Amino acid sequence: MLFPAMRTLIKHALAAAAPQDAITVRGWVRSRRDSKGFSFLEINDGSCLASIQAVVDANVPGYQDITHVTTGASVIVDGKLVASPAAGQKWEIHATGLQIVGLADASYPLQKKGHTLEFLRSIAHLRPRSNLFGAIFRTRSRLAYAIHQFFQERNFVYVHTPIITASDCEGAGEMFRVTTLKDGSGKPPAADFFGKSTYLTVSGQLEAETFACALSDVYTFGPTFRAENSNTSRHAAEFWMIEPEMAFCDLQGDMELGEQFIKAMARYTLEHCAEDLSLFCKFVDKGLQERLNFVIDRPFQRVAYTDAVEILTKSGKTFEHPVQYGLNFQSEHERFLTEEHFKCPTTVYNYPKEIKPFYMRLNDDGKTVAAMDLLVPGIGEVIGGSQREERLDILEGNLKHHGLKTEDYWWYVDLRRYGTVPHAGFGLGFERLLMFLTGVSNIRDVIPYARTPGSVEF
Ligand code: 4AD
Ligand code: MG
Repeated sequence: MLFPAMRTLIKHALAAAAPQDAITVRGWVRSRRDSKGFSFLEINDGSCLASIQAVVDANVPGYQDITHVTTGASVIVDGKLVASPAAGQKWEIHATGLQIVGLADASYPLQKKGHTLEFLRSIAHLRPRSNLFGAIFRTRSRLAYAIHQFFQERNFVYVHTPIITASDCEGAGEMFRVTTLKDGSGKPPAADFFGKSTYLTVSGQLEAETFACALSDVYTFGPTFRAENSNTSRHAAEFWMIEPEMAFCDLQGDMELGEQFIKAMARYTLEHCAEDLSLFCKFVDKGLQERLNFVIDRPFQRVAYTDAVEILTKSGKTFEHPVQYGLNFQSEHERFLTEEHFKCPTTVYNYPKEIKPFYMRLNDDGKTVAAMDLLVPGIGEVIGGSQREERLDILEGNLKHHGLKTEDYWWYVDLRRYGTVPHAGFGLGFERLLMFLTGVSNIRDVIPYARTPGSVEF
């Protein structure tokens, strides 16, 4: 009876071309309505947004237990798929059998519609059973697939870069320690599992570069970790990053790929996630559809950091944080540029070298590096990337300047010693992309189990 091959997914049942004499669906009851002599069940199995209605009448085997079939219970319903007289649904099931698999009592927390996102975060183990979170996580899954498709079609090789690392790629010191040393053992890093201090990676870039300098175009797609103590709606301590890296490529090529990628993801969402997108447009962000169409139709803007500083200082707006050449942009500055000034996704490039990591390529002006950040309305930075410094002497100088030891990066430096090539890449935060494409405004709601400062339940 539980043999999975005998099950029809509700999405397939609802998309049927013709009635069916015998069908079996399995799922969780969203609601039950009783009439004289029969009951209606709304059943959802997560395969699509819609639930299917099953009509169970009193002579169906199992009907004697119908009062136990409450919201949240799991059931198996056998029956006929027939045209539904009800508005808004093409098909319904006339049950010939009802089996309760698991009961859910009145304490089941998803009883009614309209729970707040905050409440749903506190029941993250059950929230995928709500319409909104079902839609978010189906979309997340489809986009993960679309990302692989995008790169594979372009002949990029998928590289699994390590999660445990000894190097701080971004040089920001925001790393989680990985250790088997006991608290208070007082032992030095040399006595630790790996014989030196190790951390969870903040980026797979350095290793991806080594593979790009062999396989030409590569990408990573995996979890990354940041111990930055920023409790914002766009920062998580654990998030997924997509990092393409291309050999024989400069900053122009890098910016071009970033734009193409965002456009392709918007197009994919419109074409392949239509049902879930309709929910986001209705309940999350009324302007979403229009924004996605705009993104695929129009070219993005590009602006040099120096010009962006000028735009911001001449904007007449008062910002909470100062705008000054040599300072990093804050979210409010990024959002002004993309939302109010350019009113479209915008790539800012050529940042002052002082505010960027050691690996970025020094421009001919000696002051800026070939960096780029792609900013989108509603979020700000979704992509951070650069052309990499491929010149041995300059890279060694950068390492020194950033207080890093060349010996610790000997393998990375070796790339510049043996057949060095101009190369470039970027990192894109998968959750930020999802926020942009679904309109969901908090990163905690686009990742199954959010890890943020002070919060690691589940
Ligand atoms: O700009 P970032 O720090 O760049 C790098 O890590 C480079 N090594 C990438 C590369 O060139 N291969 O991070 C890249 C992206 C950001 O633009 C942002 O979308 C996301 O990762 N990101 C975060 N997302 C969620 N929570 C955080 N704490 C994030 N920090 C960065
Ligand atoms: Mg960045």
